[in-house]
Formats: sequence, structure tokens, C-alpha cells
Amino acid sequence: MRSALALLAAISPVLAGVQEVWWNITYVLNANPDGLQPRRVIGINGTWPPPAVDIQSTDDLLVHAYNSLDQPMTLHHHGMFFNSTSWMDGALAISQCGVPPGQSFDYTVPISSNGQWGTYWVHSHAGGQYVDGLRAPVVIHPPQEKYQYDEEFTVVLGDWYHDEHAVLLKQFISIANPGGAEPVPNSALIYFAQNATYLGPISGTHPDSVTAAVGFNDNATLPFQPGKTYRLRVVNTSAFAMFYFWIDGHDMRIIEADGTDVEESPIDLLTVTVAQRYSILVTARNDTSQNWMIHANMDTDMFDTVPLTLNPNITSSVTYDSSNSVTDLGTIDAYSDVDDIALVPLVVEPMLPSTRTIPLTLSFDTMDDGTNRAMFNGQTFVSPLVPTVMSEMSLGANATVAQAYGPFSFVLNHLEVFDILLQNSDTGKHPFHLHGHKFQIVQRSLDYTSSDPTLNPPINESQTNPMRRDTVQLPAGEGVVLRVVADNPGAWIFHCHIEWHLEAGLAVTLIEAPLQAQERNAIPDVMFQQCAALGMPSSGNAAGHPTSDLLDLSGWTLGPFQQVLGWRPKGIVAMTGCVLTAVIGMLTVTWYSLGGHISEEEMEHEVRMQQEAKLRRGKFFGLIKPKN
Ligand SMILES: *[C@@H]1O[C@H](CO)[C@@H](O)[C@H](O)[C@H]1NC(C)=O
Ligand SMILES: *[C@@H]1O[C@H](CO)[C@@H](O)[C@H](O)[C@H]1NC(C)=O
Ligand SMILES: *[C@@H]1O[C@H](CO)[C@@H](O)[C@H](O)[C@H]1NC(C)=O
Ligand SMILES: *[C@@H]1O[C@H](CO)[C@@H](O)[C@H](O)[C@H]1NC(C)=O
Ligand SMILES: *[C@@H]1O[C@H](CO)[C@@H](O)[C@H](O)[C@H]1NC(C)=O
Ligand SMILES: *[C@@H]1O[C@H](CO)[C@@H](O)[C@H](O)[C@H]1NC(C)=O
Ligand SMILES: *[C@@H]1O[C@H](CO)[C@@H](O)[C@H](O)[C@H]1NC(C)=O
Ligand SMILES: *[C@@H]1O[C@H](CO)[C@@H](O)[C@H](O)[C@H]1NC(C)=O
Ligand SMILES: *[C@@H]1O[C@H](CO)[C@@H](O)[C@H](O)[C@H]1NC(C)=O
Ligand SMILES: *[C@@H]1O[C@H](CO)[C@@H](O)[C@H](O)[C@H]1NC(C)=O
Repeated sequence: MRSALALLAAISPVLAGVQEVWWNITYVLNANPDGLQPRRVIGINGTWPPPAVDIQSTDDLLVHAYNSLDQPMTLHHHGMFFNSTSWMDGALAISQCGVPPGQSFDYTVPISSNGQWGTYWVHSHAGGQYVDGLRAPVVIHPPQEKYQYDEEFTVVLGDWYHDEHAVLLKQFISIANPGGAEPVPNSALIYFAQNATYLGPISGTHPDSVTAAVGFNDNATLPFQPGKTYRLRVVNTSAFAMFYFWIDGHDMRIIEADGTDVEESPIDLLTVTVAQRYSILVTARNDTSQNWMIHANMDTDMFDTVPLTLNPNITSSVTYDSSNSVTDLGTIDAYSDVDDIALVPLVVEPMLPSTRTIPLTLSFDTMDDGTNRAMFNGQTFVSPLVPTVMSEMSLGANATVAQAYGPFSFVLNHLEVFDILLQNSDTGKHPFHLHGHKFQIVQRSLDYTSSDPTLNPPINESQTNPMRRDTVQLPAGEGVVLRVVADNPGAWIFHCHIEWHLEAGLAVTLIEAPLQAQERNAIPDVMFQQCAALGMPSSGNAAGHPTSDLLDLSGWTLGPFQQVLGWRPKGIVAMTGCVLTAVIGMLTVTWYSLGGHISEEEMEHEVRMQQEAKLRRGKFFGLIKPKN
């Protein structure tokens, strides 16, 4: 503990306070937040949900984490910069080997020196543990808020599965699921916190005992007083599902997105994709004669099937006077997305000219092992054997050689300004998160293949203050350009925040300013000891080979890879795209199981049918476009 505090002191030369929390990360049996099915979850000190964190921006956070699980664990403080200490970022296989079972690790989270405040969250970045419940909101208060309000609440939204993540993952990445249908959540959760304490259930309701201290969904309510203005911090902790959020009878104004304060902007409907956060101001009504419904509707577009048992539209309420009834204005006509490129940051940050473009096109495909995987530029991400930051710190002058980190890695020069040109060739929408940075969203195209400038405009280099955030939503067929300054030496992952897609390989790593990283802080010894305890190498290239074998990645199993053409019947070859290969993958399985007893014509017919069905789905996705 002393060493961790010393480290914090070194990072934060200005005398700052330290808020310490002790988290014993444990399994919790029979948690039943949705009231539908008790299940084992991951919580803290035998309780769930993990405590909300509330901290002043002049302080630093020190999390003493003890791992009582039977698997390596990490904590990622989502959106925090960890300037020059990227090994504290908690991304398994990028920043650390993981805290072994029965061991502890002190996460030092610099805040006072980072100039960050607003709404964040903390979650595990290992083995889908956050899907099993290891996730909590983090609220950072600046000395002076930009907006005035009377009181604030944190609104936590999340999808919820009745099965454990490991079970679902096995079904997801499987030759029995060549089309890559993601596990559909069993329900959704909404619950509230204030001052690091979750609000309890409405009196008179008696939820299941293990999670009885917290009110969920209909059993939760926000107490409003007439005329007061409330700041609601909405955090989406989903693994998959996106939400639409609104409050009947009340207007909302956005004032913050992912820790960036923005000019007040009215909004009818808040779209919160996985891992995004928004703060809204809501002015309470003057009359207390009725209470009002809060709606959080899960977006089911991405679900391959919507089970009849799933209620995607959950509700909670705003209470003025508990003796009155709740007014439900019910459904809405059409969903729309928040046009985040139109938000204007209060603190102006100019757009610097970019000197490099990293094009990343995402796709899904059925691979040569029959499973469905995600790819950037045709390459599915596989965790390196050595955490990337440990390679970066141990390779000396050779640390600038990108091939040493594997095929999905990019080495950046110190203070280089670069663009990530992100294109979505898939029929689903994907939320992307860059660690260690906020990016500016400098261009969006509704169709990245189009030559029509209304659909695919050139980058406007004259923008004076583009919106910046840490998580961006990318709808089907669209493109976005993210401008980033490489001002944070270390190793950072850029990935889809849909947990299933990260695990299917939708990630790349950025190795930033290796030589500057080596000159700055050192990785704490305990991290090397924990790698050793887990039997993992902690130096050399991605496969653990020394600089003398810099480009030797043997021992590290890459892949699977895209299928080679060849066996396909001639009629099918003319069709292109990942949709097709996915379907063919599915049919390959059928074809083999039938001992090849299916004619080329039959197969072609089947492929055409399936392709049309998928296209219809894609069109449906396309219906939801940003509002102007
Ligand atoms: C967890 O338990 C430890 C040991 O009893 C205690 O010091 C700590 O404050 C607890 N943490 C939380 C968040 O309850
Ligand atoms: C953490 O919790 C487990 C299970 O309750 C307990 O056995 C262990 O002693 C605790 N460890 C610490 C460091 O508090
Ligand atoms: C929450 O914290 C604020 C500031 O610390 C304080 O003014 C307020 O009274 C607290 N509210 C509750 C309900 O504890
Ligand atoms: C709300 O409380 C009731 C009991 O009063 C319980 O049956 C129901 O499952 C609870 N709902 C949730 C979402 O916890
Ligand atoms: C949370 O993110 C998921 C995944 O993008 C999304 O489907 C869901 O609608 C989001 N929730 C909210 C409240 O926006
Ligand atoms: C509440 O009443 C005050 C004073 O009459 C008025 O200024 C305000 O606009 C009213 N608020 C709402 C939400 O109607
Ligand atoms: C959920 O709400 C949407 C929008 O109001 C509506 O179209 C849909 O039918 C609802 N779904 C269910 C299962 O109630
Ligand atoms: C690694 O560094 C050594 C010494 O600086 C150099 O001779 C060698 O060419 C480098 N290897 C590669 C692949 O760049
Ligand atoms: C580019 O952005 C500037 C500043 O916001 C604006 O004045 C100008 O009209 C934009 N140009 C185009 C072509 O949209
Ligand atoms: C990191 O700190 C340096 C100053 O030491 C600063 O120039 C840079 O902007 C910071 N980067 C981030 C991402 O906070």
C-alpha cells in the first residue's frame, strides 16, 4: 500500500488527497436483480452491485483489489487517461497478466493530475467478468461544475443474462453458431445511485434477499421535488444491448458526454450505446399531483431473435408524492440516435492537422475453423502471450518495430496526430472505445463506400471545436473519422465494447511512443510477479522472444483465418461479402453433415434466400439514422 501511495504521489506532484477503497472481489450467490431468476454474479465483499464510486477531481483514487475468484481478474477504469502509466489501465493481455486468484493488486488511478471529471465507470476487462456483474459507476466532481443544478442522481442501465458469461461465450464462439448470433440478454436493469449509495427499493416492495438493499426497475424510483433541477448521469453498462431513455412528462437537456461538458442541448430521447455516458438536466414539474414513468427500452435490432419471455422495455418512475399514481405515456413512435457530432464541448480544443491515417474496416466472417469471428482489415485479434505494454517496455530500441507486437498493432510516434478511419461493413451497429484518450469525431459518413458528398463528405479541416469523447457508435454501413493526439506513451487497446465482439476479435492495439514510455515510469515489480504466478512471460515480443528473435512469433497461435475459396460451387462465387461467407459457413456444416448430399443449385438457392433475409435485416438497421 505504501508503494502504491508513493507511486501516486510521484504521478501527482500537486498535493492531492487520496480516496482509498478496499474491494474484495467475490462471487455472490443467488443475486436476483430482475426478480426473474437468482444466479451467481461477481460482486464486492459478498454484495452486488459493486459500490458506486464518487470522488473529487482534486483527489486520486486507490483501489485495493483482492481477487477471491478462481480466475485472473482486472479492473479497468473506463475513460481515465493513466497518463504514462498504461499498465494501470486493467486491459487483460495489453496492460497486465491479470491479478491471480488469491492475490491483491493496488490500482492507482491518477485523477488530480489528469484534468478529468464527469461520468465514468469501472469494470473488469478480463474474461467477460463485467457481464457477470463486475461493473460500477464512477463520478468525478470538479471544484466548480459548469452547470447549476440542485441535486444529482446516477442512472445505471445494463443488460442482464441469466446464464454465466463463460457458458454463453462457449455457445457464441462455436461451429454450431457459424452465423455469429450473439447471446440475447434475458432482461434489462435500471437502478439509481446518489453520493456513492444505491437507492433502495420503493417501500412496500420486497425484492429477493441478496440484492434487496437496492431498488431495480419497477421497484426503483427517483424522488423529485417540485421546481428543482436535477442532473441525471446515465451510464450504460451493457454487454450488448443499447438503450433508449426518456422520462414521461419531463424535458431533457444533454450537458455532458463521456466526461466532456457540452453546450446545453435539448433531446427527446437519449440513445446510450454500450459504455457511453451522458449527463442530462431535468427540471422537475411544479405540480405534484402525479408521478411519472421512466422508460429504458432496449434496442432489439441487434438481437437475432427476440424471445417472447424478454421484456425489452423496462420502466422505473419519478416520484413526487408516493400516495399518487404513476402516469405512463407508453410507447413512442420512432427511435432516433443522439447526433453526437453536433454536440459542442464547453472547453474548446482545436483540431490539429493529422499526419497519418489508420484505416480500419470491420467485418464478420465464418472462419476456417467454422466459428464466426470479427475482424479489422481481415485480421481477428488474438491476445498476445506477453502483455503489450510489457513488450513495449522490454524491447529497448526495437520497441518501435510494429511486427514485434503481432499483425493488429500500430506503433505511433510521440505527439503524432493521427486519424482512425473506421468503416463498418457489418449489418450491425458497434460502439468503439479507445483506451487512454479522448478522440475528436471529425467526420461521419452515412455510407463510407459512396462518392456522394452528402453521404460521405470530406473531412472539414476548418472545424474549430469538434466533439470529443471516448466511445463512439458506428451504425451499419457507416464510417467515422476519429482524430487522436499521441500524447500518452504506453500501450492502448481500441475495440468494440460489445463484449461478445471483443472476444470474437474486434480489436487492435496502439503502441504509443515506446521510447518515451521507457524513459518515464516503471512497471511495478508486483505485476511481473503476478505474470510469473500465472505462468505467463512478461518480456520480449508478443510471443515472449527476446530482441535477438524480434520478429519470431512462434509459440503464439494466431487465427482462425478467413476461408480460402475453392470448394464453393461456381454459382456462389459471384456473390461477395461477409454475409455470404457466413451463410456458406453455415451450409458447409450442413453439407458435411449430409455427406455432401446437396446439389449446387439447392445450395445456391439456400444462400440466396438467407442473403435476402439478412439484407432485409440490414435495411431495418438502416432505418435508424442520426437526427439533423
Ligand atoms: C470490504 O471489506 C473490507 C474488510 O472487511 C473492508 O475494509 C472494506 O471497507 C469493505 N469494502 C467495501 C466496499 O465494503
Ligand atoms: C475476501 O472474501 C473471501 C470470501 O468471503 C474471504 O475468504 C477472504 O478472506 C477475503 N479476503 C480479504 C483480503 O478480505
Ligand atoms: C450528497 O453529497 C452532497 C455533497 O457532498 C451533499 O450536499 C448532499 O447533502 C448529499 N446528499 C445526500 C442525500 O446525502
Ligand atoms: C419488486 O418487488 C416485488 C415484491 O414486492 C418482487 O416480486 C419483484 O420481483 C421485484 N422486482 C424486481 C425487478 O426486483
Ligand atoms: C447500452 O449499450 C448497448 C450496446 O450498444 C445498447 O444496445 C443499449 O441500447 C445501450 N443502452 C442505453 C440506455 O442506451
Ligand atoms: C414552475 O413555476 C415557476 C414559477 O411560477 C415557473 O417559473 C416555472 O417555469 C415552472 N416550471 C415548470 C416546469 O413549469
Ligand atoms: C417496446 O417499445 C417500443 C417503442 O415504444 C415498441 O415499438 C415495442 O413494441 C415495445 N416492445 C414490447 C415487447 O412491448
Ligand atoms: C533491433 O535492434 C538492433 C540493435 O539496435 C538492430 O540491429 C536490429 O536491426 C533491430 N531489429 C529490427 C528487426 O529492427
Ligand atoms: C467547416 O467548419 C467550419 C467551422 O465550423 C464551418 O464554418 C464551415 O461551414 C464548414 N465547412 C463545410 C464545408 O461544412
Ligand atoms: C499527458 O501528460 C502530458 C504532460 O506530461 C500532456 O502533455 C498530455 O496531454 C497528457 N496526455 C493525456 C492523454 O492526458
